[in-house]
Amino acid sequence: MDQILIARSTFGMTMGFHIIFASLGVGLPLMILIAELLYQRTKDADYSLMAKRWTKGQAILLGIAIPSGTISGVQLSLLWPGFMEVVGKVISLPFQIEIFAFFLEALFLSIYVYAAHRLSPQMRIVSVLLVLIGATASAVLITNVHAFEGTPTGFHLVNGEVVDVDPWKAFFNPSFFVTAGHVVVSAYMTGAFVIASIAAYKMLKVNKTSREYAFHQKALLVGLVIGGTFSLLTGINGHDSAQHLHQYQPEKLAAAEGLFETQTHAPLVIGGITDEATQQVKYGLEIPWLLSVLAGNTPNEMVVGLNDFPRDEWPPLFVHTLFNFMVLVGGALIFVGFIGFAWKKWLKHSHYPRWVLWIFVLSGPLSMLGIEAGWIFACTGRQPWILYRVMKTADATTQSQGLGALFLLFLGIYLFMAIATILVFRYYFRRHPISLEGEA
Ligand code: HEM
Repeated sequence: MDQILIARSTFGMTMGFHIIFASLGVGLPLMILIAELLYQRTKDADYSLMAKRWTKGQAILLGIAIPSGTISGVQLSLLWPGFMEVVGKVISLPFQIEIFAFFLEALFLSIYVYAAHRLSPQMRIVSVLLVLIGATASAVLITNVHAFEGTPTGFHLVNGEVVDVDPWKAFFNPSFFVTAGHVVVSAYMTGAFVIASIAAYKMLKVNKTSREYAFHQKALLVGLVIGGTFSLLTGINGHDSAQHLHQYQPEKLAAAEGLFETQTHAPLVIGGITDEATQQVKYGLEIPWLLSVLAGNTPNEMVVGLNDFPRDEWPPLFVHTLFNFMVLVGGALIFVGFIGFAWKKWLKHSHYPRWVLWIFVLSGPLSMLGIEAGWIFACTGRQPWILYRVMKTADATTQSQGLGALFLLFLGIYLFMAIATILVFRYYFRRHPISLEGEA
């Protein structure tokens, strides 16, 4: 394997692992806030218990997100020294401000975990709200560096030297808002569906007349309603992301859609496999004009094809599959959320059939796979650039040898951390079953 591939695999593995905890760490506080608000409104102790249990989950997740996030930071410097030179001079603001966001989250999470029962209802809500603001701000700030990679602004690179630095221009790079929006709403959606998954799974295991069943049924409905709402918002915002690519990274959109020739009335191809030899997407479902309409709100919109770019600057063509998968997940989960809500509130059925519960069980993992696909699509689809049209990944990679051993070492660390997380979750929640929990 060549040096760049091992470096990318190592960093990709790190991000693929970290993103699970980072996304849930953003999504869960929203669920805790909703549960707290429902408790204050209805005084139903089950909601208070949900907030309490989910807060414990959040604390465990944070315990993994912190070391895996630290590893990501260290690996950035180890693997991409050329890139970090620009980051250090141009876009270090988000990293610095993020420390305060993290403190805000950690401080108020501790207050809520240890002292919720001593706080007034208003202060309980304020505490969780501040946890949510801290967690969301962390995500927005860190992913802003990813946004900057797609639309690097606020500096010039002249003969390898960084000049004309404007940190705020770099901070508010053209992708800032659209990326922040997509990352945050997809994390909220994932947090909600993971809760729905666990609740549905528990409902399959316990007696329908038990207190636990009633508890999980309430949690399930909250998860489905919030998850469904945010999957709709993810889709709306994802449409903005695609229009943004059309404007700022057209070859990424062309690869996402398997479009080779520049054209108006461009079709959208769903599914299939992009075939370079025939310059077509094989076995896909082609919808005439739709890509032009989605990219520019009119069939007359000119969408640039891959052939307009040098071959060595094309993103890998498999990103079409990743993009399709992400969009499919979004669409499927809007439907799942809608079904869950309609079944209960409009059709007025008191119980979900077991096969429907199994679909809900799948919603959390599916959502998480959507996040993974989204990240791989966004980062792989930017290749060969680490800073779009400014610096190639190859030019930013470390020259140090022995990266293979580093890969294996981190693989071992993540396996250990994954097993430890599962064991801690099992240990805590088995020792604290709902039947033994009092009101928070
Ligand atoms: C439903 C329709 C969706 C559309 C049209 C859409 C569109 C996009 C686009 C165009 C990008 C690339 C942005 C870039 O490279 O700058 C992206 C990235 C991403 N997507 Fe989606 N997406 C959708 C659904 C989802 C879903 C359901 C999830 C998660 C479950 C998700 C998670 C992500 C993530 C984590 C990224 C990487 C961060 C970013 O660059 O914004 N997306 N999406």
